[in-house]
Amino acid sequence: MANILIIDDEPAIRESLSIGLSECGHRISAVGTAADALDAAMDRDRTFDVVLLDLRLPDRHGLDVLVELRAKGNETPVIVISADTEMSSTVRAMRDGAFDYVSKPIDLDELEGLIDRALKVSAKTGPVVELVAENESQGNQGAIELIGNSPALREVFKTLGLLSASRATVLIRGESGTGKELAARALHTFSRTTGAFVPVNCAALPGTLIESELFGYKRGAFTGAERDRAGKLEAAGDGTLFLDEVGEVPLETQVKLLRVLQERQFERLGESESRPFKARVVAATHRDLEALVRGGQFREDLYFRLNVATVTLPPLRERRDDIPLITERLLSQISKELGRGLKGISAAALDRLRVHDWPGNVRELRNVLTRSAVKCRAAAINVEDLEIGGPEGDSPALHPLPVGADLARFPTLDEVECEHIRRALAYARGHKGKTCDLLGISRPTLTRKIKRYSLERVAVPERSDDRRS
Ligand SMILES: Nc1ncnc2c1ncn2[C@@H]1O[C@H](COP(=O)(O)OP(=O)(O)OP(=O)(O)O)[C@@H](O)[C@H]1O
Ligand SMILES: [Mg+2]
Repeated sequence: MANILIIDDEPAIRESLSIGLSECGHRISAVGTAADALDAAMDRDRTFDVVLLDLRLPDRHGLDVLVELRAKGNETPVIVISADTEMSSTVRAMRDGAFDYVSKPIDLDELEGLIDRALKVSAKTGPVVELVAENESQGNQGAIELIGNSPALREVFKTLGLLSASRATVLIRGESGTGKELAARALHTFSRTTGAFVPVNCAALPGTLIESELFGYKRGAFTGAERDRAGKLEAAGDGTLFLDEVGEVPLETQVKLLRVLQERQFERLGESESRPFKARVVAATHRDLEALVRGGQFREDLYFRLNVATVTLPPLRERRDDIPLITERLLSQISKELGRGLKGISAAALDRLRVHDWPGNVRELRNVLTRSAVKCRAAAINVEDLEIGGPEGDSPALHPLPVGADLARFPTLDEVECEHIRRALAYARGHKGKTCDLLGISRPTLTRKIKRYSLERVAVPERSDDRRS
């Protein structure tokens, strides 16, 4: 049973909807103008659970009413009911925060179903974790900030701080999406240099291009070189040259790069005059450079030149405690970017995020949050809004190899078992009973194995589920 506000200028529609919905057990108020609608919706003595909104009103357009309600902080789900089936009206209504859009003539069963769904969405499933308001400097600072306060990440911060005081070459390592580029930018920003931060994506450039990109060239050095051009080594000045995906640099170029690092000078392609190289070098890779060296794809001497100081970014699954903080901060950024005014995320949704494996790390988390924020029709993101893809998605399918396993090394039975139990726990959102069902084992067996493989953390959400139900 819900309190429903109907806004429609046609008395016949107000009446038929009022009758139909009262028969379903709802309490109905109906008005015919935008002015009356706003008065009713903003009346402190009345609260509505759902608003049904026609678009063609005598005094203002229905979407103005929607926008004004949202601007005044009213988050009641609004279902648009309109004869207007133009794409633009529908798109605008959803953009401006409508819950759904039904076209007239109205099918009462369909409307009833939508109202039910809207009620479920607005009824907060459990406590909501509110987004922290973005404070202080939001400009460049926000963009370079690695979020997190797990012990592992705090160590990274300390290392970055120490290294930004020096000009030593730094190699940043870590899986894809762990924030290697952010770390490189932080090294530069905190290093008090006045020079530029010049990134070179070594993976995006084929062999020949990477050299002209790095070294620059003299007019006529090769076909297409129509004028002299400075390369990135020069552009970096006494700032920072960021060699991203350095593991992808072709062998021939590696020799030249090594020389630059050793001699601190270089020549533009087609020129004999040497130029000084003054920038600080920061390189990053998600590849196993040692394996590349063993396999002959990466020069050992260059490896030693680059690997003077190392910063290793831990994968997100090894610092799950950072997930809530990262989620809150990213979500508040995303909400602002999308102009969505999201207030928070439900504790249940946060639990779900905590158990996911995040093979794509923070980048994947950011993508999931962005998709959810777009999809979410309420003020807070809920479990239903989350679309977590990848191997941990919504299927308990078998994955014989642990994510990220070194394929050259065959996993042991214990490793596969541990991984499989962890996946089942994640799929069951930490619920042990469901996990036993999935795995076809008894509860004591599961408990024993959780202990043996230290999977207690993955099983955590069960406690919060129990508290709620
Ligand atoms: N700790 C973090 N806090 C906030 N945002 C993060 C964090 N780590 C990564 N990100 C975000 O995740 C995305 C990927 O980060 P980044 O590009 O630095 O990863 P990467 O390690 O360079 O990945 P790849 O190896 O795939 O290039 C970016 O949008 C970045 O802002
Ligand atoms: Mg990167």
